[in-house]
Formats: sequence, C-alpha cells, structure tokens
Amino acid sequence: MTKTLVSHVGIAVKDLESAIKSYEILTGVQNPAIENVESEKVKVALFSSGSGRIELLAATSEDSPIAKFINKRGEGLHHICIYVDDIESKLSELKKAGIKVIDETYRTGAEGKKIAFVHPRNLNGVLIELEER
Ligand code: CO
Repeated sequence: MTKTLVSHVGIAVKDLESAIKSYEILTGVQNPAIENVESEKVKVALFSSGSGRIELLAATSEDSPIAKFINKRGEGLHHICIYVDDIESKLSELKKAGIKVIDETYRTGAEGKKIAFVHPRNLNGVLIELEER
C-alpha cells in the first residue's frame, strides 16, 4: 500500500483575507477552513482537496514565529509537512543521525494533530514539519 508522503505545505502570508482570495482562484477550493492556533500565534487557512493541502499562515501577534519569518525573509514558502507513522521514534531517529530538531517532543498543532518541527540546517534549508498519521 502506498502512503501519502506530504501532508501539506505552509505558506507565510501578511494579509490572510487577500491571500485566501488568490488561493481560492488558484485551487478552486472555496471557503477554506480557518483555525486560530493560539499556541503558535497564527491564523491558518486550510485548502484541502483529496490528499495534500495548502496552509496559509498569518501572524496574530508581533512575536509570532510567522511575523518573525516574514520580517526576516518575506512572504513565501514556510515549511513542508511530511507524514510519519510514529513521531517520537522519528524524532529520536533524526537526532541519532545528527539532524537538528526544533521540537524535542511533539506538540499539538492545527486539528489536534501531533506535530514537531525539524531545523532547516541539516535539511538543505527547508523547515520540515512532521505530522503523525
Ligand atoms: Co504546517
């Protein structure tokens, strides 16, 4: 059985409402689910159709990681999220291999999923989010 590898890509945006309008046209998906993730200080719009989705991420506070990202690098691709079967064992496997993780253990992300971030340093400059299936 094949498993889907990519859960979603996250895109950092300044103005969520105007980004939603553009991505509605782009994807053909109307009225994306909106979620406030207070722990991350972000408002998320989820464009979903079949497998794989696009997450638009807007900061809800100046000290949000997304606000910091946009100040430093501008809008654009923020992260790619890949599925893993067991997030704790994947985190320890990565650490053993010398791949720097941001989260030592999982946290609860949008939709109550178990997620963790892996540092871009050892992954060719791309911030990777892990999501347990
Ligand atoms: Co994400």
